[in-house]
Amino acid sequence: MIYILVGICLPFLLPSVCSAERSLVSDRLENVTQTISKLLEGYDIRLRPNFGGEPLHVGMDLTIASFDAISEVNMDYTITLYLNQYWKDERLAFSNSEEILTLSGDFGEKIWVPDTFFANDKNSFLHDVTERNKLVRLSGDGAITYGMRFTTTLACMMDLHYYPLDSQNCTVEIESYGYTVMDVVMYWKSTPVRGVEEAELPQFTIIGWETNDRKERLATGIYQRLSLSFKLQRNIGYFVFQTYLPSILIVMLSWVSFWINHEATSARVALGITTVLTMTTISTGVRSSLPRISYVKAIDIYLVMCFVFVFAALLEYAAVNYTYWGARAKKKSKKGKAPEEIKAGSKPNTDQQETYMASEDIIELQDVRMSPIASIRNRNNSSKTGNNACEVDLSKFPPSFRISRTTGYAYNCRMTPGLRYRGNKANSIHKTKVLHAIKKGALVLKASMPKIKDVNIIDKYSRIVFPVAFFLFNLGYWLFYFLE
Ligand SMILES: *[C@@H]1O[C@H](CO)[C@@H](O)[C@H](O)[C@H]1NC(C)=O
Ligand SMILES: *[C@@H]1O[C@H](CO)[C@@H](O)[C@H](O)[C@H]1NC(C)=O
Repeated sequence: MIYILVGICLPFLLPSVCSAERSLVSDRLENVTQTISKLLEGYDIRLRPNFGGEPLHVGMDLTIASFDAISEVNMDYTITLYLNQYWKDERLAFSNSEEILTLSGDFGEKIWVPDTFFANDKNSFLHDVTERNKLVRLSGDGAITYGMRFTTTLACMMDLHYYPLDSQNCTVEIESYGYTVMDVVMYWKSTPVRGVEEAELPQFTIIGWETNDRKERLATGIYQRLSLSFKLQRNIGYFVFQTYLPSILIVMLSWVSFWINHEATSARVALGITTVLTMTTISTGVRSSLPRISYVKAIDIYLVMCFVFVFAALLEYAAVNYTYWGARAKKKSKKGKAPEEIKAGSKPNTDQQETYMASEDIIELQDVRMSPIASIRNRNNSSKTGNNACEVDLSKFPPSFRISRTTGYAYNCRMTPGLRYRGNKANSIHKTKVLHAIKKGALVLKASMPKIKDVNIIDKYSRIVFPVAFFLFNLGYWLFYFLE
């Protein structure tokens, strides 16, 4: 119609037609302006529609624009909503027709509007880009649609007993601030909520929602309260990759210790302590995103149990080590008597000596030849030049070596002549003798192995007991929380 008018109103056309159409438009505009002015004439903004009579019914519906964040630490969530309120103000009826006027949001400041508020609101703001996000739609019969868009942070007390395998029930509570049920009664429209299916949350899935209305008895009277509750299911994926899987792997890592030789003290202790510290780090990370709740959460149980497993693996090594060194000390004290017996004996032959020779001493001899310390290796080689190999210059050795090994060497020199000439190329018979001696010693060592293996029995059992116990714990844990 307007386009046609513009076409007609070109200057070369008849000016009379043009002015007629123009006056029609301006008439209508004038008519509406007059209508609105007339409506607001004598309108008392302080009084609710139907004042003194029946309570005013205010319909509500809302559309979720977005779910922004859920915070366990603050126990709240942030949501952006379009809230529409519908009521009828007979004072604003201007015609009987179905005519609808959409007015600027400012019009809302000139008429009575409900004093709706959110009972669990912590902080909200109306968006005002580019203008205040408000709409007022006035029907000919006085029906008003009052809409707005805002972001609000609403309190949501969460029960975290099952965290992170929990689901939460967060609500939007709508109520009139001043008007009791005698004046204003709110109700949900036939389609109360839109946009739930489209709303997406990174950490939760909305598995359902429902609306409720009830009467809320407060100190100042009884109010009608509408509530919308969302059922939110936490997505476990994040926690599986950030917490559960690393914890499981750390616990498994602690079992590696059972397959490491118990004499590798530094390796096993380091492994044990590293796993314990890593578990501490993981639980610290989890705690940082949670409020300081006193009750035990599902994730606490898991982390504490993982910690216990890791700690038990460390203690297991303490037990193994203690048993091993205890047994060794006993063996040493028995062995201490042996050389004196030989001295007392008439003529000790080599075979006899070798039986007395401690298996450890042979290991020590081999240690020396393979020692990374040059002076020790050199000492070994230089023995061929010296007349008496037993005159070892112990001052060349590091102090710790001197203390621990002196007795063993002195003993070797005295008792096994074969070793004295070790390294003399000319005397190959002696060499084979030495090899023979070492072989025999190895046999002795082997013979003494079962005793050491007895200590390893703790490790042997741990290899089975620990994984089985951990598996059973996991089975119980996941069954309990998934069947809840
Ligand atoms: C002006 O408003 C009156 C009622 O208030 C209506 O009868 C009339 O048709 C309107 N005129 C125009 C041009 O819309
Ligand atoms: C949420 O809790 C309220 C009671 O606090 C209950 O009435 C409502 O049904 C619950 N909503 C869901 C979706 O479970």
